[in-house]
Amino acid sequence: MHTKKRAGLTKLATGIPGFDDITGGGLPQDRTTLIMGGPGTGKTVFAMQSLVAGVLRGEPGILVTFQESPRQIVEDAASFGWDLAELEKDKLVILDARIRPNIFKSIELYLTGMLAGIKLVSGEMGARRIVFDSLDALLSLLGDRTTERHEMFRLRDWLLDSGMTAVITAQVEGDAPFVSQRHGFMQFMADCVVSLSHDVSDPTASRSLRVSKYRGSGFAEQEFPFIIGPAGLEVGYAPKAASTGIQEEIKLAKGEFRARIETLNRQLEIKQAELNFLLKAIAKQKDRGEDARSLPVGRTSRKLGSRKTKALIPRKPVLATSNPLA
Ligand SMILES: Nc1ncnc2c1ncn2[C@@H]1O[C@H](COP(=O)(O)OP(=O)(O)OP(=O)(O)O)[C@@H](O)[C@H]1O
Ligand SMILES: [Mg+2]
Repeated sequence: MHTKKRAGLTKLATGIPGFDDITGGGLPQDRTTLIMGGPGTGKTVFAMQSLVAGVLRGEPGILVTFQESPRQIVEDAASFGWDLAELEKDKLVILDARIRPNIFKSIELYLTGMLAGIKLVSGEMGARRIVFDSLDALLSLLGDRTTERHEMFRLRDWLLDSGMTAVITAQVEGDAPFVSQRHGFMQFMADCVVSLSHDVSDPTASRSLRVSKYRGSGFAEQEFPFIIGPAGLEVGYAPKAASTGIQEEIKLAKGEFRARIETLNRQLEIKQAELNFLLKAIAKQKDRGEDARSLPVGRTSRKLGSRKTKALIPRKPVLATSNPLA
């Protein structure tokens, strides 16, 4: 069984280990899922993996590429052991929708033609799943926000009408207001939103995935680590997590050791200062003793042996003020 029914919503397994568990079954069937994230975070791999899983289970699928060439996609897929060329024969179609702006006078017109073309192809092959990778590449050619929204509404209506389970990828880069508005609108349009992230500046940081929206369904809201391994994405299993955990522990232990060493150094300084103080006091006492020896014998001998003289050597020096570095 590759579908699960929960509270009236049917879900399609993605074949991504771990993801189907945190979403209680996978992607919402006949609805749209948005996969967003920065460059290289794994959006295309996620989309391809779920499409291949569907095809292998007998659900024909279409991959519409706005960014990479079909040849690149086939090569990248081969690195995960997915033979798209073999699947493509009857169950998988890759449509090259890369736009050369100088060729098309009207992108809107181009989109109309493209969607009509996809409809024909999907009807012929009985497609159940579709991937648009990456929608940003298309939207950035539209020029203004109103047209963008208009086209996004059109795509949403087209998807609803098609009855296919869709995955749309979107590259999130930069924080310009129009970019965040575009992504806000995309999230509003989608039924399920998955964010992927990867801190490229920190090689020890693991990739992470978070489901931020799932209409009509509960889901695990935390961030989950994932890896892109030889068989694609694996959620919840991050080999770096263990080493990251150990590294974090080592970092903490190092900090504690450093603090302890500092405390010990300080105590040593205080003890040293105490010792200096005592030595000075003894020296002073000696001086006085010697002075005293030059005094008339009767008075001096009494004074040196008295309690008053012993009190010159403090038993407990004041630590804070005797620390020369304090
Ligand atoms: N065969 C492989 N084995 C392991 N990791 C791989 C393999 N192929 C690609 N990757 C990893 O996947 C990452 C790219 O994933 P993907 O192409 O899905 O990213 P993306 O989010 O679609 O990026 P973009 O926004 O640029 O399209 C690479 O940075 C690489 O780290
Ligand atoms: Mg990509």
